[in-house]
Amino acid sequence: MDATSQRFLMCRPTYFAVDYAINPWMDPTAPVDAGLAVRQWERLRQVYRELGHTVEEIVPVPGLPDMVFAANGGTVIDGKAMSVQFRDPQRADEAPAYRAWFAAAGFELHDPKHVNEGEGDVLLAGEVLLAGTGFRTAHASHAQLQEVFGYPVITLQLVDPRFYHLDTALTVLDERTVAYLPEAFSPGSRAALRRLFPDAVHATAADAEVLGLNAVSDGRHVVLPEQATGLAAQLRDRGYETIGVDLSELRKAGGGPKCCTLRLRQGKASK
Ligand code: ARG
Repeated sequence: MDATSQRFLMCRPTYFAVDYAINPWMDPTAPVDAGLAVRQWERLRQVYRELGHTVEEIVPVPGLPDMVFAANGGTVIDGKAMSVQFRDPQRADEAPAYRAWFAAAGFELHDPKHVNEGEGDVLLAGEVLLAGTGFRTAHASHAQLQEVFGYPVITLQLVDPRFYHLDTALTVLDERTVAYLPEAFSPGSRAALRRLFPDAVHATAADAEVLGLNAVSDGRHVVLPEQATGLAAQLRDRGYETIGVDLSELRKAGGGPKCCTLRLRQGKASK
């Protein structure tokens, strides 16, 4: 299996905290070690660099504790960046910060017409865009995604509030394969996933509950929470190399490695 070198956008969790609750993982009364969060995030960045990936950084904004979750900053494919519109007012001001970054970096900008939480809910799998809905990204935004990017969009209905973003329930391993937690999806979406990906890896609830599916693959190496030991073994059986990282502090906000990582995809030529 071939690894492709990636370009990622990340945001240092300088102002990370859990002081509101917009998903079931978040408990504002539980202590968070912000210094440890930064060290764990730095380790993730180091892992990417050691794999030969390029990491760009956006400057964190005070008062936006969830801004570390760069996957929610946009969707970037073939040099086009679609910015985001958050469901929750607590995260609204992240959208213009990421939008300004995309503009400065020279991406062709598109603004969302409906709630759309970026790569948290929008994952490119080969030639199709998998788009989640049910908790955050509005179903209506899926049509806009297809118009902007020109990839067929497959709507996937999420049904478990713990797996509120698509990237907590499904990970793209390479152009042909995904791993997912079947019970996080509606029966119809589950059937659609079976048709599209008959060879998919089915994760267990235990691995999904440590956000094991919030993983980042370059086609060969899969970076995932180190607590997801069962999923790591399944992936190694399939020939992937797994790299476990500990993001225990960020998990208190409901995020893992993928949430911290936005893929910046250029046009086909320089992909
Ligand atoms: N606290 C954040 C929220 O609920 C976590 C976002 C995680 N990001 C992701 N791509 N799943 O919005």
